[in-house]
Amino acid sequence: MDSRNRNFIDRCITQLDQAVRTVFGEPAGSDRSNPAGPVQDGEFTATGQAESVCLMRVNHAGEVCAQALYQGQALTARNREVRDQMQQASDEENDHLAWCRQRIRELGGHTSLLNPVWYTGSFLLGATTGLLGDKWSLGFLAETEQQVVRHLEGHLQRLPENDKKSQAILEQMKTDEAKHRDTAVNSGGTELPETVKKAMTVMSRVMTTTAYRI
Ligand SMILES: [Fe+2]
Ligand SMILES: [Fe+2]
Repeated sequence: MDSRNRNFIDRCITQLDQAVRTVFGEPAGSDRSNPAGPVQDGEFTATGQAESVCLMRVNHAGEVCAQALYQGQALTARNREVRDQMQQASDEENDHLAWCRQRIRELGGHTSLLNPVWYTGSFLLGATTGLLGDKWSLGFLAETEQQVVRHLEGHLQRLPENDKKSQAILEQMKTDEAKHRDTAVNSGGTELPETVKKAMTVMSRVMTTTAYRI
């Protein structure tokens, strides 16, 4: 077997390990501390707590998708530098995944039962856009991150006022996603056609509406 094939198989095995950790196990986050750590919550009503669980479940599912997208793209990206950047962004998304998961547990909720479905769909989408070439896959990433920033702004408005811990997590995520968007644009991501952007909005709405409930 030549070294190129061996490298590809090594990467596949690493991706599989990350996939299982993302969906079923403890995600291996970086050294960054949880932004909710030093924050104190206010008093919660039962309704407010239930709403926080649903919103954070959506955000956790979104991070499962982000992991899968980045991993799918990293697997098929042609340029080594682009691949490394995707891996780094994927590591940062892992922090978001771990923070959301921890918050859901603290609130007494559960993560989306459909996470394996979100992961598989997003991985295939990421791998496909990776095959279209780096400028398209980076453009797809930039648009995804832009939509995530807008989505997080909406959730920050919807979270109960006293859920300071969830708010702290979403604020840090919003900062990171905007950085990922800028990196993708600066690395040569091209602007996507409006129809593609609209299709992406519809797809993410299906995911967010379903994960809110299940
Ligand atoms: Fe994220
Ligand atoms: Fe991101």
